[in-house]
Amino acid sequence: MAIASRLQKTLLWGAVVLLFVSPAFAAGAPPANPEHGRQIYAECAGCHAMTENGMGPLHCGLVGRRAGSVPGFAYSEVMRESRIVWTPEKLGEFLKSPLSYLPGTNMGYDGLYDARDRADLIAFLQLATTDVSACGTSAPQ
Ligand code: HEC
Repeated sequence: MAIASRLQKTLLWGAVVLLFVSPAFAAGAPPANPEHGRQIYAECAGCHAMTENGMGPLHCGLVGRRAGSVPGFAYSEVMRESRIVWTPEKLGEFLKSPLSYLPGTNMGYDGLYDARDRADLIAFLQLATTDVSACGTSAPQ
């Protein structure tokens, strides 16, 4: 009887510990760091700017936007007709390897291979959607 109740107690505590520890495991890596993402954005800034179209379309307000929808930018046909909506997940897949994700895209960029860098960059792009002041000094178009 004593053994059984000790076992029960152990199981109970095991369950309690699991309950508290598993969300931390589920979350996996530490939260993404948008400030680091802003630095990573230097990789994109040769072609993109936050508030103006350049070689690539402007990025302010990107997250949640339909692909190929920035006015005045001459997209490739595949981008314009992709029907992608730029969720963080889709951005992650695209940025990992733009050409394999969307063959025929004009974005001449190999990819951002490091998952951590991608997560941080996307966190920055998300910030530049929810808080347009993160886009820079001029207003988004
Ligand atoms: C060599 C130039 C170049 C670099 C570097 C570059 N891009 Fe692009 N990007 C483009 C071009 C050009 C397009 C338009 C592609 C098309 O129409 O197929 C584009 C399109 C995009 C789009 C689709 C936007 C929309 O409005 O649908 C996203 C998102 C994007 N780029 C993100 C990035 C990010 C983030 C980086 C940095 C990690 C980056 N790009 C680096 C040239 C570049």
